[in-house]
Amino acid sequence: MQNLFGENIKEPKHISKRTKKTATYDKRNKLNDLTGAEWQFWTKTVISKIYPSNLQHKLRSQHGGQKPPQLCADLIKVFSKKGQLILDPLAGVGGSLLGAALCERNAIGIELNEKWVQIYNQVCQLEGLQQFPVLVGDANEKLKEIAPVSVDFVITDVPYWIMDQVTKTRSAAAARESKLSKFNDKNLQTKEEWLAEMKSIFEKTLPVLKDNAYMAVFIGDMYRGKEFHLLSGELAHTISSIPGFVLKSDIIWHDDSKMLHIYGYPFAYIPSLIHQHILIFRKEK
Ligand SMILES: C[S@@+](CC[C@H](N)C(=O)[O-])C[C@H]1O[C@@H](n2cnc3c(N)ncnc32)[C@H](O)[C@@H]1O
Repeated sequence: MQNLFGENIKEPKHISKRTKKTATYDKRNKLNDLTGAEWQFWTKTVISKIYPSNLQHKLRSQHGGQKPPQLCADLIKVFSKKGQLILDPLAGVGGSLLGAALCERNAIGIELNEKWVQIYNQVCQLEGLQQFPVLVGDANEKLKEIAPVSVDFVITDVPYWIMDQVTKTRSAAAARESKLSKFNDKNLQTKEEWLAEMKSIFEKTLPVLKDNAYMAVFIGDMYRGKEFHLLSGELAHTISSIPGFVLKSDIIWHDDSKMLHIYGYPFAYIPSLIHQHILIFRKEK
């Protein structure tokens, strides 16, 4: 072993023992194909690795919420083995599905908007990557078409809460009335409606997941209407309320592509959200 100056030094006993133990793959490992050292690395709760804007990033960025396929591949490698089945019930332009192809897993997606599925298919063709099936439609319905207890890992990214700002100042009933008359936009949701929609999808995701398998959910917090919304915490609480899903971790992904802003400057502090949360759940009885 050498120190920083290239001089030979005696390796401390506890380090060499641990290195030997973790450098190899443990045959009892039922979760993934990682060595002990790789497993240890991925127990970190912050991901600060910089991911490239590649794999037809320009095409995929028409979506706006696309995730780096390599980041998805890193997570998939932690929570599954080669050849296993990955599901993304809210697949968008397929960051998770592309990630699955990069690390030799099988995958299936569900996506409401056909336009995103077409872009995903186009990216696979342009990149020569395996193209997985994507069921077009509402996950609430399409999840019923997937065989129960068949999926080894779920990795997904929830749609953003399309906030109804009126709910902040009025009662729920008045807000709903005003929402329809003032904004005339039925896409606006209260936070409770958004959480209920997410709960409904994850309730239907649980039965297709194998026992003791994991689920990773990307979620960003929000600063809107002069207020910070810890959506990650609220979503974690909502999914944990589904009997069978147990929250295991909250991994912070430092998203280096996000720009800093000075919206409140020089009068008030408004944060630049340069991180997202990756909530990790396990299906347990
Ligand atoms: C945050 S995006 C996912 C982006 C994805 N991670 C990627 O890399 O492209 C969430 C997606 O969920 C889709 N979606 C929303 N509600 C849905 C539903 N009920 N069923 C299926 N897909 C839905 C949206 O159309 C959107 O593309």
